[in-house]
Amino acid sequence: MLEENRQGEVFEQTENAPEQSKGKHFYIESYGCQMNFSDSEIVASILAGENFSPTKEMYEADLILINTCSIREKAELTVRKRLREFNKIKRKKPGILIGVLGCMAERLKDKLLEQEKLVDLVVGPDAYRDIPKLIRTVEDGDKGINVFLSREETYADISPMRLDSNGVSAFISIMRGCDNMCSFCVVPFTRGRERSRNAFTIVAEAADLFDKGFKEVTLLGQNVDSYKWENPETGEPVSFAQLLRMVAEVSPKMRVRFSTSHPKDITDDVLYAIRDYDNICNYIHLPVQSGNSRILKLMNRTYDREWYMEKVRRIYEIIPDCAISSDMIAGFCSETEQEHKQTLSVMEFAQYSMSYMFYYSERPGTLAGKKYEDDVPLDIKKRRLKEIIFLQNEISEAHNKRDHGKIFKVLIEGDSKKSDLDFKGRNSQNKVVVFPKVVGYGPGDYIHVRIMNSTSATLLGEAVPGHE
Ligand code: SAH
Ligand code: SF4
Ligand code: F3S
Repeated sequence: MLEENRQGEVFEQTENAPEQSKGKHFYIESYGCQMNFSDSEIVASILAGENFSPTKEMYEADLILINTCSIREKAELTVRKRLREFNKIKRKKPGILIGVLGCMAERLKDKLLEQEKLVDLVVGPDAYRDIPKLIRTVEDGDKGINVFLSREETYADISPMRLDSNGVSAFISIMRGCDNMCSFCVVPFTRGRERSRNAFTIVAEAADLFDKGFKEVTLLGQNVDSYKWENPETGEPVSFAQLLRMVAEVSPKMRVRFSTSHPKDITDDVLYAIRDYDNICNYIHLPVQSGNSRILKLMNRTYDREWYMEKVRRIYEIIPDCAISSDMIAGFCSETEQEHKQTLSVMEFAQYSMSYMFYYSERPGTLAGKKYEDDVPLDIKKRRLKEIIFLQNEISEAHNKRDHGKIFKVLIEGDSKKSDLDFKGRNSQNKVVVFPKVVGYGPGDYIHVRIMNSTSATLLGEAVPGHE
């Protein structure tokens, strides 16, 4: 599930990965954001070139990898617990190697190898090409570590091995790193400087996915709106708005989504691209973090409350049926009750269809970690978060009620979680739509659905086959 991945606390295994019996096997678990899940597919592809095939059974693996997240303390604790479990397997089967990938590898570096002795390999997000060499180093009895951050690496030439795929939607990484330095955030330290991938390789990957039957791509980056790539042959720059149009041209039958947009960087050109192309989805994830200008300044978000609200107004003006979602942090350093209330009021104003909500977790090495006191008591952080969640549920419920009676074009993803008599899909606004199955339709097909009912998380409807 895409939503859950951003929480940094859930994991995926190589569930639907094609199993082969030849050669060695690797097992990989991914935590954190969509970018990590996408990176795991690049790692899988690199390992496949070394005659390693994926397995969903960790007990039969020769190599266990965990792609980690550092965004909040809880995400790291989950990974440490998991590493201890992997080590129990290693005690029974000493030949296996355990590797830590991703943001914790980058943040903790050789501490993971030396102090904790839980792992054999430590590989940062820009060093995955080195994994085969590092495995050989460990097999020769040396330390396997590479946490070098690159200014160029985009893995543009690597065709990801799709893991746990529904065969309908896929991620495409379009950039890596982040230059924003929000004061609470560890990502610039774990992912390095921002760099954009060659636009033509992005379009080629989208076209290849479409040829293989995929119907939806999500363009990924920490800050997609600052995508910028220069065609070396012509010297012409390609902006994110242009990239969106290029990918949308692959086929009108392939939906294009993207995540995440930093409010300071999303331009009218991007909004016009969404408006102009039916297949670019009417959905923008536009994290606000706080509704108070003083806190936003401390967070180094570079916009204030009014500026953010103006952006939201502009989105609804250019794309009236656009859904907007958000991220919120409760109880950032020195946040007062009044300031917290302003987060609640910006949520009412923006009418988010959904949000990812967290309480502040201090991260070592960040500007806030060094400079500001984490002085909002945990019980108050938790209470404020509860209020934010409660309000979001109300807003989501009302948002969904406004859809009753409407007919949406839905891309079918598979069976609903609750019943194999129902299909589950999404509309352009990224809302999950559940409806009774119709003969002749299956995953990857578009179908129109009339919404009859809803919960705060799901629209429920009935198919209107043949509707145009
Ligand atoms: N690049 C994305 C965010 C990536 S992190 C963006 O700018 O929107 C996903 C979310 O985790 C952030 O939007 C923020 O709400 C939350 N987050 C990041 N650091 C955090 C911290 N130290 N404590 C609590 N939540 C945090
Ligand atoms: Fe972190 Fe801010 Fe970059 Fe997002 S934009 S990854 S919150 S520093
Ligand atoms: Fe976590 Fe790293 Fe993503 S810290 S949210 S996995 S970029």
